[in-house]
Amino acid sequence: MTTTVAPHFQFKDNLLHAEGIPLTQLAQDYGTPLYVYSRQALRDAWDAYQQAPAGRSVLICYGMKANSSLAVLQEFHRLGSGFDIVSGGELARVLAAGGDAGKIVFSGVGKQGWEIRDALEAGVKCFNVESEAELERIATIATQMKTTAPVSLRVNPDVDAQTHPYISTGLKENKFGIDINDAMAVYERATQLPSLRIVGVDCHIGSQITEIDPYLDALDKLILLIKALEKQGITLQHLDLGGGIGIRYTNETPLAPALLLERIFAALDKNGLDHLELVLEPGRSLTGNAGILLTTVEYLKHNEFKNFAIVDAAMNDLIRPTLYDAWHDVEPVTRRADLPAQRYDVVGPICESGDWLARDRDLALQPGDLVAIMSAGAYAFTMSSQYNTRPRAAEVMVDGTVSHLIRRRETIQELFQNEQTIP
Ligand code: LLP
Repeated sequence: MTTTVAPHFQFKDNLLHAEGIPLTQLAQDYGTPLYVYSRQALRDAWDAYQQAPAGRSVLICYGMKANSSLAVLQEFHRLGSGFDIVSGGELARVLAAGGDAGKIVFSGVGKQGWEIRDALEAGVKCFNVESEAELERIATIATQMKTTAPVSLRVNPDVDAQTHPYISTGLKENKFGIDINDAMAVYERATQLPSLRIVGVDCHIGSQITEIDPYLDALDKLILLIKALEKQGITLQHLDLGGGIGIRYTNETPLAPALLLERIFAALDKNGLDHLELVLEPGRSLTGNAGILLTTVEYLKHNEFKNFAIVDAAMNDLIRPTLYDAWHDVEPVTRRADLPAQRYDVVGPICESGDWLARDRDLALQPGDLVAIMSAGAYAFTMSSQYNTRPRAAEVMVDGTVSHLIRRRETIQELFQNEQTIP
């Protein structure tokens, strides 16, 4: 029996299951398109980060932009997670899910005044500051609020994460972070602002990274900076290396969190920096293979050049294929030995040629069949839209043989309830 890329979505008797539930059952109960998550997969992914050497402190701040469903946030909070947020909206979500503000790091290049105020009020662990102008703004707001803002500078270490250009963030030409060569001067400026408390340094070099070297290169550069800061009397409490660990979409061999942790701690020890708390901001690696997008084949269409499987999910539900040319495995939910496979493009109903989910896949399909778009737990629902006035999909969390509807399907009415016609 062949297996899928996701351990908690496997075939039993030629029928694809989410944990203990056949996907046919979930489609019947909740309709399609449907996002289906595995609670155990979230827990297993979390466990992969719990491998730090004894006595060393690591704070995992889940990069929640990957999947910000309240139920997902709640699960990670229960496991002890903090959160990496990038907006006031994400802050509100963490708080609504019962998360701990003291474990939030606030990243992002464009923090607005109200977002900074909300974060100070909530009492976040720190602001990952991305420019000198932002530093000044945070200081001004903290002074107005008669409080002190904990800050860490997000430096841009100028390393190549060897990933897709849209999701590479640690190169000089990217908009992210403060040039590592300017960081010392910005830290010195921070020491002059009494409403700021310097707590750390951070970087985030990109996403879907499968090699360890880019991390180690970035770490080396950060260590040099930390030592230079110490010479100036600026001491830090934490080092945050961001997120970015890749997952298996098809045949990648992603780097294991345990190995990364081991190498980071070895480097810190070697440099006498074992007092630093380590913060990581993984997103995709915690949720990517914990979810699938379940969709129904509406029509099969054939022309001279191509076969199309037209499904009820579309680029508004999952934009990764067309935006990044990303690969997601496609698994027919029922394995059919009786039907020959044909080469299909799996496409949605949206009026754009870019509306495809997978291309040139050998699949045995009939109209009405269910297919699972795999590895859709990260940057999938969170990037979905209502384009073509399509309600966003429902989301379900499977826990063993029990399923919980964690977001009901939007109604058509909801799509334009905030709109008004004019006289
Ligand atoms: N920290 C910061 C500051 C980030 O910008 C990101 C992701 C993360 C952590 C989490 O990174 P992860 O562990 O998930 O790689 N939409 C794209 C990915 C964009 C990533 C943006 N930043 C995709 O679908 O591939």
